[in-house]
Amino acid sequence: MKFSYFEFIIKWAMKNQEKNYALPGRFESFWIDSTPETNFSPLGKNISVDVAVIGGGIAGLTSAFLLKNEGRTIAIIEADRIIKDVTGHTTAKITSLHGYIYKHLIDTFGQEKARLYAEGNQKAIKQIASFVKDLNIDCDFERASAYTYTENDQQLKQIENEIEAAQKLGLPASFTKETDLPFKIKGAVYFEDQAQFHPRKYLLGLSKIIEGDKNFIFENTRALAIKEDDKILTIVTNRGEIKAKHAIIATHFPFYDKGRFYTKLYPRRSYVLGVKIKSEPPKGMYYSRDKDIRSIRYIKTEKGPMLSIGGEGHKAGQVTDTISLYKNLENYAHERFNVESIDYHWSTQDNDTPDGVPYIGRSPGSKNIYLATGFGGWGMTNGTLAATILKDLILDYPNEWAPFFDPSRPLKQVKRFFTEGINIAGQYANKYISKPPKPSDLSLSCTHLGCRANWNNAEKTWDCPCHGSRFSKDGKVIHGPALRDLSKKDIK
Ligand code: FES
Repeated sequence: MKFSYFEFIIKWAMKNQEKNYALPGRFESFWIDSTPETNFSPLGKNISVDVAVIGGGIAGLTSAFLLKNEGRTIAIIEADRIIKDVTGHTTAKITSLHGYIYKHLIDTFGQEKARLYAEGNQKAIKQIASFVKDLNIDCDFERASAYTYTENDQQLKQIENEIEAAQKLGLPASFTKETDLPFKIKGAVYFEDQAQFHPRKYLLGLSKIIEGDKNFIFENTRALAIKEDDKILTIVTNRGEIKAKHAIIATHFPFYDKGRFYTKLYPRRSYVLGVKIKSEPPKGMYYSRDKDIRSIRYIKTEKGPMLSIGGEGHKAGQVTDTISLYKNLENYAHERFNVESIDYHWSTQDNDTPDGVPYIGRSPGSKNIYLATGFGGWGMTNGTLAATILKDLILDYPNEWAPFFDPSRPLKQVKRFFTEGINIAGQYANKYISKPPKPSDLSLSCTHLGCRANWNNAEKTWDCPCHGSRFSKDGKVIHGPALRDLSKKDIK
């Protein structure tokens, strides 16, 4: 009995601590907070263009920019505001060092195909650098080194393997133990001459060039369906229709899904803190795949340098106590850095694929619809590479990378496909696992495919554990693939 009493006290204390824990800093992405809001009008009447680009993130905007340069007319359609969803919450590292991908790609596809991923991403770095220079975009672009590091002796072999694989593919990889982090590491894959920037400043720069001369950006315009005809597509939106010869779906999770991507895209959420520290911040871009994944980079701000410290990733919608994840990051920041203040906290969502390769190309079963998704958290380079591939496919130009990224490619990682499929199937069987608030007038049945949404206690949203749709507290859809709000009538 005595033990139960103490157990009760401890639980009570923990619960109280949870209740009193204030998330640190503003709940806002620094990138969004430090740039002006966009104010493009919604679609006001039916129009016709050469290419409709659905989604206003890095893949959509860069595609539109490249196609406009080739003399095509463009309409970008964004459900909310451009550069606000996933691209507005990125860590904005411009690098081809993507964790431990190259050993995996060589083992899975062979060296020649793995080289396409490496070259395509290296080319994307150069392309961003040249746009920044040629278009004179003031976006804090700077060269930086990238590191995948470990603090664990057991991971050193993996580091060595990755360096060997990357070198085989001609990448600038070497081993180092030297970093400007304020703690010791056991070793790292080191890529020199990579880069970082302010993603919104960069893309706002591109957006100014895209609009005009019969090219459009429509915000607060949600694409709902595409009607396919042999020659002309009709994009049906909540504000009218757009006729186009081609359409690009760059909506993170494809909203128009003839390829059943909901069975082969795995959404993952992760968290970021914007941290001011009392000493000189490290200037490298760091990523650790140890037990607790961590992502660190330095950001220029008007009030001095800040670090973004990220991690605590999990399958979207499958953790409800997200407050504890921010708390873990805050503890980590204090353990590793001399923290002056934590000014921001925000989160993001990425899509993984079974084989680790994005889906970029013609949408399965369609002639003139293209898509780009599954960037695995490396959207700055993969999104830019996607734009080049899609531009070439639409214009019928040769592109050596396109076949490797083809969304209709045969499935390679069958085991992961089945494991993830079982996980998703399990979510349908799940009971409501969230704590209150339990809505009395809102069905929690996700409007995509009926999985039950869970409460996310830090963001105050309903997150679907099957394919990552998200809804506001009162049921408004804020992230697809769902297109419709949670139902108010169907009380469950
Ligand atoms: Fe597919 Fe919810 S996102 S069922």
